[in-house]
Amino acid sequence: MIQLIKGFKDILPDESGCWRRVETLAAEIFNNFGFEELRPPILENTGLFEKSIGQDTDIVEKEMYTFADRKGDLVTLRPEATAGVVRAYIQHQLYAVSPYRKFFTIGPMFRRERPQKGRYRQFHQINAEAFGVKEPFIDAQMILMLMTFFTRLGLNDISVHLNSLGCAGCRPAYKQRLAGFLEIHRERLCQDCRQRLDRNPLRVLDCKVEQCRQVAERAPVITDCLCPDCRAHFSLLTTLLRGLGIEFVHDHRLVRGLDYYTRTTFEIQTGRLGAQNAIAGGGRYDELVKQLGGPDQPAVGFAVGCERLIELLRQQADPDQTAAIDLFIAALGADSRRQAFQWLSQLQLAGFKVEMSFDERGLKSQMKLADKFHAAQTLIVGETELADGRVVLRDMRTREQRELPLNDLMEQIKEHLPSKQS
Ligand code: HAM
Repeated sequence: MIQLIKGFKDILPDESGCWRRVETLAAEIFNNFGFEELRPPILENTGLFEKSIGQDTDIVEKEMYTFADRKGDLVTLRPEATAGVVRAYIQHQLYAVSPYRKFFTIGPMFRRERPQKGRYRQFHQINAEAFGVKEPFIDAQMILMLMTFFTRLGLNDISVHLNSLGCAGCRPAYKQRLAGFLEIHRERLCQDCRQRLDRNPLRVLDCKVEQCRQVAERAPVITDCLCPDCRAHFSLLTTLLRGLGIEFVHDHRLVRGLDYYTRTTFEIQTGRLGAQNAIAGGGRYDELVKQLGGPDQPAVGFAVGCERLIELLRQQADPDQTAAIDLFIAALGADSRRQAFQWLSQLQLAGFKVEMSFDERGLKSQMKLADKFHAAQTLIVGETELADGRVVLRDMRTREQRELPLNDLMEQIKEHLPSKQS
């Protein structure tokens, strides 16, 4: 049998409800904050990612799904969404209406990383990007929006990690200072970090290898080397976050794996997912729009990793609370089944989740089926009940039973169902 590609994942029905809930809530909250949906394509010209994410990053160096199409043009399955959003912003002159524009986009990304728990080769992100504001008010707003989203989902045990990477003015001097320090400790660094040291020393700071972490602990920190403007930007951001009641950790080693960042960087981390502990990450990229041929517009954004978020939500879910359907109708006998079918359709049309068995089965077998569906209530109807003009409604959690008269049955039943949305 042909199997799924390694590192790819089917989202099966037992998860897909959670996915939809997450995506719908994100769209609702982001809309409230003034973000409009933009859907760039999944395939882009390879050059777009090389130019934006950076040649010396792991993503561009070894993780992109790149291939020549039938005409020989190099194209890439997007490893992230920011580059495509920026391209669309420039190409369609979305800045012309107002330079201050905010977008969100939801969809799959592709990176050929080593698969492990929480790390896939196709994964999904919910992205938000805001263009046109230099001041850190928008950075603070985006972190507030993200945390509002997580809070509304009922997520706990998460923390905001924050740092500043400075700008083109002050970062080179820091990089040089850092490289000087790391050079002294070259022998203690892992093979990858020795290479990083020559090309992108900042990345040594977030290496997970213990020896490298020990070296990084004592490395000079970037926030000590910021220029006055970057320092003021970071300081105002922290003041704004405190004003909003958002707790954060100033994480000196938060450098992120993409080259376009300037100033603010942040991640939302959890202690519950093992090594892949970031459920969202983002930051400012004030130079990228210009670098890709657009106007000189600052920008800031983030992306939530959906697989990790959903894994966390599923870990937290209380299975007792999750009745999958509102009602199961157990019908005994051909006449009852036809009657039950009418009720089933009526309630489904009214927006309730209802199931029944279409083939003939005994009561015991139907009750088992009701359990399998995780029904909140079961309606039991047989020929005698029909003749007597009453049916039995059983609460599947408490096992409590009540008799309901047939006249006005639909209205009465709706009162007992979890989703009373008729
Ligand atoms: P990123 O940190 O590469 O940033 O990815 C954001 C989130 O996507 C991560 O925190 C993680 O939750 C999830 N993620 C990344 N790689 C994988 C993977 N292989 N499997 C599962 N989940 C993964 C970006 O992509 C930036 N474009 C974010 C951004 C938007 N910055 C500014 N605007």
